[in-house]
Formats: sequence, structure tokens, C-alpha cells
Amino acid sequence: MFTFKKRKQSESLDKIPAHIGIIMDGNGRWAKKRMQPRVFGHKAGMDALQEVTIAASGLGVKVLTVYAFSTENWSRPEDEVKFIMNLPVEFFDKYVPELHKNNVRVQIIGETSRLPQATFDAMERAREKTKHNSGLILNFALNYGGRAEITNAVKLIAQDVLDAKLNPGDITEDLIASYLMTNNLPYLYRDPDLIIRTSGELRLSNFLPWQSAYSEFYFTPVLWPDFKKDELIKAIAEYNHRHRRFGGV
Ligand code: FPP
Repeated sequence: MFTFKKRKQSESLDKIPAHIGIIMDGNGRWAKKRMQPRVFGHKAGMDALQEVTIAASGLGVKVLTVYAFSTENWSRPEDEVKFIMNLPVEFFDKYVPELHKNNVRVQIIGETSRLPQATFDAMERAREKTKHNSGLILNFALNYGGRAEITNAVKLIAQDVLDAKLNPGDITEDLIASYLMTNNLPYLYRDPDLIIRTSGELRLSNFLPWQSAYSEFYFTPVLWPDFKKDELIKAIAEYNHRHRRFGGV
């Protein structure tokens, strides 16, 4: 059982969600409040992500899937997109060494073939460097969109039926899940137990729509750069008060 000094009894953390998904929202507003350009918020967001990853790893979380860039984010101003696409390069140099020391394994989901080459290469280097680590999996959703993921899975399944590798009768929920991008995760941890969204927005925004069917949701007004270890603990404490029934009673 995990308890923390000075925490109320009601905040004991008996159940640690194995897979947490995070929609890291509010970087732009955080920067604006400080009269800084939006990219300043994304930089601070990287620091928050590092702290939350290491805290989650210490608490025994197995997978952290973070929404870093959606397929819709390309419509942002060109300079901002360029900046975000350069973050993985900085991520590799500045953040990966500490993650590696903490036994964190970096993985990635999304339409990675459409990323700029340098972005793709930096993420690949992070994946390659940490691939033998056995601790928390930090799973980046980068150029990810949930409906596109499901559409792609349907195409692959249809093709396998056409090629007589599969009968329509073989199509089960488990089979569909095996065609989704989260098939890069250990079987037991493919679906998030808890999804956190910061900055007061109450939407899923195309983040893991299939995988979140039974997830618990935690929304907080805290802007992502301010979401640190204590906020993660609050979210997990709230999760501990939920009764997950998976459709049962
Ligand atoms: C949402 O805030 C945040 C993003 C679109 C980018 C988040 C990315 C990171 C924190 C770093 C990711 C790290 C790597 C290595 C790729 P927003 O800009 O929508 O904020 P706003 O809603 O206040 O405008």
C-alpha cells in the first residue's frame, strides 16, 4: 500500500492505475499568463512531463501514454508546429538520459511516417536507446488520431479477409485491438485505466477512443506545465474512490 506523509487517510493510494493516458493541455494559456510566446509553454510542458514520468514510475505505473501531437495539430501556426516538431530532438538530448537511468522505456504511436525526418529520427533514437529497459513505458502519441487509427485497422482487417488470412467470423474485440497502434504495449496494459486531461477542457479529442471504453476520467483546471507530482497523486487518489464495474454491478 502506498501512503504519503502528511496526506489525509482518504488520499491513500491502494490502487495504482497500470496505464494512465494524459492529454497535456494548457501550455499556450500558461505561457500567455506569463506574457510569453506559446512555445515557452511547450518547453515548460516538457519539464512537467519529465517530472510526472519519473513520479509515475516511482509509484509503479506501468504505462503512460501522452498526447503530444494530434493529427489535427498541423493546423496550428507554422512556427509553432516547427517548434513542437523539434521538441523530440531536445527531448532526446536533455531528458532521455535521466529517463534511461530510471529504467523508462520510450515508445511511440501515431502516423510516424508523416513526421519530419529529424523528429522521426530523434524518437527512434529514444526508442532504440531504451528498448531493453523494463520499467515504465512512456508511450508518445505523436501525430496520433484515434479515428484514423480505427480506420486503418479496419482496412488491414478487410485486406486480411480478402487475402483469406482471416474469416469475418474471427473478428472479435480482441482481434480488432491487435490491429490498433497500442498493440505495441504489453497485452494486459493496452487500455488506459485512467485518463487525465488538464486545463479544464472536458473532451477526449480523438485520444484513444477505442481503448478508453472503460477508462476512468480525471479532469482538472490545472494547466499542463503546473501539473507535477502532487497533481498526479491527487488524480490517483481520486481514481481510488472510483468503483470500476466494467458493465457489471
Ligand atoms: C497542448 O497545449 C499541448 C500540445 C499540443 C503539445 C504538448 C507537447 C509537449 C508537452 C511536449 C511533448 C514532448 C515531445 C518529446 C514530443 P495547447 O498548446 O493546446 O495549450 P492551450 O490550449 O492553452 O493553447
